[in-house]
Amino acid sequence: MTVNFIRNPDLTINIGKIKLKNPVIVASGTFGFGEEYEDFLNLNHLGAIIPKGISLKPMVGNPPPRIFETESGILNFIGLQNPVLQDFIKNKLPHFKNIKTNLIINFFGNTQKEYTELARCFDGVPGISGLEMNISCPNVERGGMAFCSEPKIVYRLVCAVRKSTKLTLIVKLSPNVTDIAAIAKSAEEGGADAVSLVNTFKAMAINIRSRKPELGNIIGGLSGPAIKPIALRMVWEVSQTVNIPVIGMGGIMKTEDAIEFILVGASAVQIGTANLVNPRTAIEVIQGIKHYLIQNKMPRIQKLIGLFKN
Ligand SMILES: Cc1cc2nc3c(=O)[nH]c(=O)nc-3n(C[C@H](O)[C@H](O)[C@H](O)COP(=O)(O)O)c2cc1C
Repeated sequence: MTVNFIRNPDLTINIGKIKLKNPVIVASGTFGFGEEYEDFLNLNHLGAIIPKGISLKPMVGNPPPRIFETESGILNFIGLQNPVLQDFIKNKLPHFKNIKTNLIINFFGNTQKEYTELARCFDGVPGISGLEMNISCPNVERGGMAFCSEPKIVYRLVCAVRKSTKLTLIVKLSPNVTDIAAIAKSAEEGGADAVSLVNTFKAMAINIRSRKPELGNIIGGLSGPAIKPIALRMVWEVSQTVNIPVIGMGGIMKTEDAIEFILVGASAVQIGTANLVNPRTAIEVIQGIKHYLIQNKMPRIQKLIGLFKN
């Protein structure tokens, strides 16, 4: 039977063992712990929430200024100021019990041991749907960059973390590498259930009056509309290389941007910087994707993934 009119397209997507009610996730570091956004939108409608990255040991973050607005994006140098594991489980996690969406934990370590220990600690904690392992932060001096840029190291690290948890494991990739598809392949071979990309691009801005950097430590990470075309290219390359789901992000500000990422192969998308401009972006994108499917007479979001014609 041909479907002529679709009222309620199926937006559900599976990422490993995680069932998303729609493919729209709010990105780590840009949505606090969810509660900060409760006045603006119904969190139950989101595909998933990914809070700020969690570490084993406390990190104070970097000296200010930590955020600088550029013409078409923001430069941040937060340096992973964040709650540590026990603090998160005790003080933040209980709040998520009342929210009917997936909670995906973003975490990072300075050593392989820290990564595996964190993964083990979250395994089996009620209320956690999956893990997003950040091997990509450009703002931490130790660990982050070294882990992200060498396929063999990524493979070893992901293998070790894989053995430490039964939770769905998403590996978040850095764009600051020569061949992101090779890194994604290593993550897949190491046992990742999915990859997410991209994190921020290393960038800088200077003040011509003071002749000093706009950020506390000269170099920070660029996000927002400026990075979208590059992120899109990377998501396309990775989608053609791996057989696991790809979660795309980088400068998604509106529905059309999200659809571009899905067309080049993303099974789901993350909204980051846009949350800081319009806190309702994720909800608007969910509605927009639904309308696009209705207009194009598509009964399921699955049908849209990778439909890009080249
Ligand atoms: C202020 C800020 C803080 C961030 N903190 C984290 C973090 O803790 N962990 C992480 O994996 N990514 C972090 N990110 C990166 C975002 O999750 C996302 O990958 C990146 O900003 C690109 O998407 P966007 O252009 O939609 O913002 C942060 C980004 C911003 C702007």
